[in-house]
Amino acid sequence: MNIPNILAIDTSADDTCVAVTQGRRILSNARFSQISLHAEFGGIYPTIAKRAHQEHIDAVVKRALRLSRKNWKEIDYIAVTYGPGLAPALDVGVKKAKELAESYGKQIIPVNHMEGHFYSCFAQNSQGNPDRPMQFPILSLLVSGGHTELILMKEQGNYQILGETQDDAAGEALDKAARLLTGGGYPGGPVIEKLARTGDPKFHHFTRPMMDDSYNYSYSGIKTALLYLLESYSQQEKLEHLNDIAASFQEAVFDSLLKKLDRAVAEYKPAIITIAGGVSANTYLRKKSRALLKKHGVAVYFPSFKTVEGDNAAMIGIAGYFAYEKGRILKDFSALDRIPRSSLASLKY
Ligand code: KG4
Ligand code: ZN
Repeated sequence: MNIPNILAIDTSADDTCVAVTQGRRILSNARFSQISLHAEFGGIYPTIAKRAHQEHIDAVVKRALRLSRKNWKEIDYIAVTYGPGLAPALDVGVKKAKELAESYGKQIIPVNHMEGHFYSCFAQNSQGNPDRPMQFPILSLLVSGGHTELILMKEQGNYQILGETQDDAAGEALDKAARLLTGGGYPGGPVIEKLARTGDPKFHHFTRPMMDDSYNYSYSGIKTALLYLLESYSQQEKLEHLNDIAASFQEAVFDSLLKKLDRAVAEYKPAIITIAGGVSANTYLRKKSRALLKKHGVAVYFPSFKTVEGDNAAMIGIAGYFAYEKGRILKDFSALDRIPRSSLASLKY
C-alpha cells in the first residue's frame, strides 16, 4: 500500500461531515450543515445535533464515497474525530466509524478535532495543490468556536501547547457578542465581521485581556464589558453605533490574539506560521495578521480552501494520514469512545 485512502468522519458539533482523502489530497469533502436547525437557539442545541447527525450520516457517507469515485474496497482506513466536541454529537460519528469498520473489515485511526484544524492549512486538492512544504518548527494559532490555542510543532505530530484560553474561546466571544448586538445571528463571527466592515475600530477601547507574559487568552471579561457598554446606551445610540461597537469588539479580540502570536514568533522563530479554525475565515483577521507578521519574513498560511475553514472531515482525514504514519491505528477499536474534553497535549503515538 502506498498512500492509503482514508474515509474520515467528523460529527463534533453541528455539521455532519464525511470525506475521502489520500495523504494531504482531498478526494471528496461532503457535509450536511445543521446551521438552520440551530439558528433559532443562537447556538448548538446538543440533542437536536445528535438526532440530525443520526438522520443524515449514512447519506453523507454515501455522498463522500460517490464524489471521491472510490468504493469500500479501495478505502484502507477509517479516521474519526473522538474529541473535543459535544458528547452526544461525537457519539454518532464514533459509533458510525465502528459500525463501518466492523462491516467492511477496516481499522480505525482516532483523530483529535484540533489536530484536524492544524492540518487544514496543508490540505491539497486532488491534483496535489497547493504544495505547501511542511517545515518545522510550525507555530499555529487555532481559533474556533470552542478553542483558542497557540501550538508549537517542532516535528511532525509533536504538539506543544504554548497557551490556551482560560475561559471562553475567541469564536465563542464573537458568537456571544453577535447575540448581544443583534439579538440573534448564528454563527456570530460572520455577523460581527459584516457589521465591523463599516464600523470604526477605534470607537471604543475594550481593555485587551491577559496582556501578561503568558501565551494564555481570556475572553469572558470582554464579553461582560460589552454587556455593560450596551447597557449604558439608549436603544437609539446602540443602533446608531452598532457597526462601531462591533468593529471595536472585533479589534480587541483580534489584537489580543495577534499580539501574543507576534511575541511567540519572536521567541520560537518558526519556519511557518499557520492560523486555522472557524475564526480564521475572517478577512480582517487575515489582513491584520499578514501586516503584523510581515516584519518576521515568515510565511503565514491559512486553511488551503474555503471548504476546510470551518468544521469538515477532510482535515480529519489528513490528520489521520499523519497519525497513520506514526502508527496510531486501532486494530481492536472496541474500547474506542468519544472524549469530549480531549486535549492535543495528551496525544500519544
Ligand atoms: O472551527 P469551527 O467551524 O467550529 C468549532 O470547532 O468550533 O469554528 C466555529 C467558530 C464560530 O465561533 C464562528 O462564529 C466562527 O468560527 N467564525 C468566524 C467567521 N466564520 C466562522 N469568526 C469570525 N469571522 C468569520 N468570518
Ligand atoms: Zn472546529
